[in-house]
Amino acid sequence: MTARIIDGKLIAERVRAKVKTDADEFRATTGITPGLIVVIVGQNPASQAYVKSKKKACLDLGWFSEIHEFPETVTQAEIEAEISALNADPRVHGILLQLPLPKHLDEQQLLEQIAPAKDVDGFHPVNVGKLALGLPAPVPCTPLGIQRLLIEENIPTSGKFAVVIGRSHIVGKPVAQLLLQKGPGGDATVCVCHSRSKDMPAIVCQADILIAAIGQPRFVPGEWIKPGAAVIDVGINRVDDAASPKGYRLVGDVDFESASQVAGAITPVPGGVGPMTIAMLMQNTLNCARASAAASKR
Ligand SMILES: NC(=O)c1ccc[n+]([C@@H]2O[C@H](COP(=O)([O-])OP(=O)(O)OC[C@H]3O[C@@H](n4cnc5c(N)ncnc54)[C@H](OP(=O)(O)O)[C@@H]3O)[C@@H](O)[C@H]2O)c1
Repeated sequence: MTARIIDGKLIAERVRAKVKTDADEFRATTGITPGLIVVIVGQNPASQAYVKSKKKACLDLGWFSEIHEFPETVTQAEIEAEISALNADPRVHGILLQLPLPKHLDEQQLLEQIAPAKDVDGFHPVNVGKLALGLPAPVPCTPLGIQRLLIEENIPTSGKFAVVIGRSHIVGKPVAQLLLQKGPGGDATVCVCHSRSKDMPAIVCQADILIAAIGQPRFVPGEWIKPGAAVIDVGINRVDDAASPKGYRLVGDVDFESASQVAGAITPVPGGVGPMTIAMLMQNTLNCARASAAASKR
């Protein structure tokens, strides 16, 4: 069997086109332009590239967006003051604190300072709690993108056995919550594996849906995968490649070559989950702008 390749780029373009239509309609009826501010500390090249693409995605939609940059030496109090100002700014519907932060900053405290209504990353404990309760709230973008890929690809989740490898707050836990929720893209039986899990091949080989989010290049071999399974590879890992002009290339957490011989559908790396993350950030920002407009009417 050769797996169907899930084209995350194409699906993300469709999502963004729909977000644009909805945002244009929202702006026409309310006069409100969605606004997203990305706060970044330091010069980490990967983070710098991510924040630029987030701003560009907003500007492509005709939205308000700025990158607020701080030097590596910034203090906790300075970032707190910045977040307070953004919380109070009516042009700003979404605040994203680009992670990771330098070690001297208290990441959790800063994430908790972002107003939950502007928390487009869905990392605030209030929003994490709402996700667990199945209440409407911003949900972390990558898990939301994974669920959307499954829905758009008509991959059934209801009653299916889904295995998530990785239990981070950013991917593993929230994607497990989404798959557990009632409704489209949910109703799965979910198992979450991590570095202490025993006999992972025996668990993974039962998965109708496998989501790998561990950050270990080609960790999951094709022989672990149930024939016909849907494989969503979240990992983004750099491996040396002398043939590439950059000297490296990106691979996922799944061994694509062998897995694609067994799976029914699989996401490539790059071009699978990655593009969905920014598309869902746009969706979350629009949702926050809508919720803010609705709250100001009450
Ligand atoms: N496509 C995207 O847009 C996107 C977005 C976010 C992340 N990513 C990528 O996804 C990957 C995971 O990101 P993350 O933020 O979730 O990473 P993370 O915070 O480092 O978490 C990794 C998780 O994987 C588990 N793990 C690590 N090695 C393992 C092993 N050998 N066996 C079983 N479990 C293992 C860890 O278990 P313990 O908890 O037991 O340590 C942990 O729960 C990374 O490659 C990252 O770059 C991609």
